[in-house]
Amino acid sequence: MTKEEAKKRILDLTETINEHNYRYYVLAKPVISDFDFDMLLEELTKLEQQYPEFVQPDSPTKRVGGDITKEFVQRQHKYPMLSLSNTYSEGELIDFDRRVKKVTGEDVEYVCELKYDGVSISLTYINGLLDFALTRGDGTKGDDVTANVRTVKSIPLKIHGDYPEEFVIRGEIFMPKEGFAKLNRERIEIGEEPFANPRNATAGTLKTQDSAEVARRPLDCYLYYLFGENLPFDNHYDNLMKAREWGFKVPQYIAKCRTIEEIFEFINFWDKERDNLPFEIDGIVIKVNSYRQQQELGETAKSPRWAIAYKFKAERVETVLNSVSFQVGRTGAITPVANLEPVKLVGTTVKRASLHNADIIEALDVRIGDTVFVEKGGEIIPKIVGVNLAKRPQEAEKLKFIDKCPECGTPLVRKEGEAQHYCPNEDGCPPQIKGRIEHFISRNAMNIDSLGEGKVEMLYDNGLVKDVADLYDLTYDKLIGLEKILKSQDDKKISFQEKTVKNILKGIEASKNVPFDRVLYALGIRYVGRTVAGKLANHYHSIEKLMEASYEELVQVDEIGEKIAESIIKFFAREKNIKIIKRLKEKGIRFELENPLQVKSDKLAGKTIVASGKLANFSREEIKTLIMENGGKPASSVSKKTDFLLAGENIGPNKLAKAKELGIPVITEEEFLNMIK
Ligand code: IVH
Repeated sequence: MTKEEAKKRILDLTETINEHNYRYYVLAKPVISDFDFDMLLEELTKLEQQYPEFVQPDSPTKRVGGDITKEFVQRQHKYPMLSLSNTYSEGELIDFDRRVKKVTGEDVEYVCELKYDGVSISLTYINGLLDFALTRGDGTKGDDVTANVRTVKSIPLKIHGDYPEEFVIRGEIFMPKEGFAKLNRERIEIGEEPFANPRNATAGTLKTQDSAEVARRPLDCYLYYLFGENLPFDNHYDNLMKAREWGFKVPQYIAKCRTIEEIFEFINFWDKERDNLPFEIDGIVIKVNSYRQQQELGETAKSPRWAIAYKFKAERVETVLNSVSFQVGRTGAITPVANLEPVKLVGTTVKRASLHNADIIEALDVRIGDTVFVEKGGEIIPKIVGVNLAKRPQEAEKLKFIDKCPECGTPLVRKEGEAQHYCPNEDGCPPQIKGRIEHFISRNAMNIDSLGEGKVEMLYDNGLVKDVADLYDLTYDKLIGLEKILKSQDDKKISFQEKTVKNILKGIEASKNVPFDRVLYALGIRYVGRTVAGKLANHYHSIEKLMEASYEELVQVDEIGEKIAESIIKFFAREKNIKIIKRLKEKGIRFELENPLQVKSDKLAGKTIVASGKLANFSREEIKTLIMENGGKPASSVSKKTDFLLAGENIGPNKLAKAKELGIPVITEEEFLNMIK
């Protein structure tokens, strides 16, 4: 490489990596694998060492972490939050061990831990209480996410035992696999884009401004390092074990090792076993145990010399991209799907992979006939992480995203700032219509399970059901003998027999007992998931009241934001939806709450009350009901509109500070009870 070429490559890499960093850290939407990213960074690091004169002022190698998100207040880290140097090679681990032993000149004890794949967090405890929590930020300053972190159940707000007056403990916030899968199912349910992997879900959640929403997300936290002047022991391991006694969640996947062989044993064990863990790891961290030795080894600007991360290679295979099909979802969202030459990956045969959206296709520049790399990292669905350009067929043309709906031919739309293309033909596009019916009958909605497994499709194809109200017009005569030809099974014919028909009708009849909140959810209003439907039902009691609500009124309701309010207004503005609701009502579907809240007094009339912290006598829901029963309005965040802040035990300092700032009276549980006596 000539000097000129090196300069160009450095400029290129700097720009590319900065872009990927931005996508990863700021947007939480990466388009390349960690492995590829690390390779680019390594290449840049080496080139910069060779040609320091070309190092850019915005070089990603100078940064410890990512950009800082503006919304949260920044705060200084007492101890800089360094990163770990990492490697994919066993040889480099051997080098690491040699270096450590050479510098210290003595025997070294290592501590091996898992490398949790989440978001690092720094917690400061003063006098046994969680004082504040910071994200890494740029390593010197981080975002104050205390309010959100407080909602993570495994992080103790108060610790017990013989702890130092002040110390910092660091760890990783992550989302366990199961909770992640559930969260994504729920997001798909309300028409939101699912998160790509648990790490992105965690990062996105920690950046959420509404801590109540954070509380509903299944975050967890493992702690793995302590800082402080008066720690009880002179080594990492013993302090960590002590921290566990204080009440911290310190993982049990930890081992002391004396030799490199023992380290490899630990690595090999977890490389095989990691699929069985309930959370994701992306490698192993090896730390020198003794603080004295750690100090001797010191640190570079970016990472300590006494620790190293060994990263697992994500399992990846090569296969050919045969075609791309475009799927239309219930909300009209278009998802490009790669049809692959079947290939074995981590024990399963992979034939398809999601390409997510037009941006991802553009960034990857995949073409039909390309040999692509497919990886199964944390993602449930395998993903294409790159193209083997050496194998690209000459005639392969750039892939064009469709501009018309593949199902109904309507020109697609793409809203400003959204990644997804949509088919706007809500009423005429078959998969959207069928999708809405399938949502309506699904388990958490009307629960008409006798209509599952392709039956909706049959009813739709035969012109019997074009909207959800049509379900209630079905009769025995219309259904009996209804046929479907199975193309996939040599044109085998199946038809509805008596038993099936009776079952279907029974299921439809039973759905008339489904309570209002679930009916509301079943209607499939965008962004109205089960929780929101419950809130709306409790607030408005009937569909009429909800339909009359203005945008301004809706956004006042607890947990109803602008996006949801807009979507509700839009839904009821459509004549077609009103007609369906009217027909459903005539058939006996429940459009009002069975046991609506009874207002018993007007003692709190016109008062907006925020209750926060742990109350002695009431749960969250109970206190809200009590406020409403007395004519008041419960709210979740302190604002100018708040009349009182009802403070329970361990109330967040932010809420208290906000109330003070706005001059809002803070009352105790007892004072509150006196108000309504
Ligand atoms: S120790 C000075 N231990 O990996 C202590 N980090 O790039 C440095 N990580 O920022 C961190 N598991 O977010 C440590 N057992 C573990 C870890 C771990 C995951 C993360 C952490 C760190 C990044 C390294």
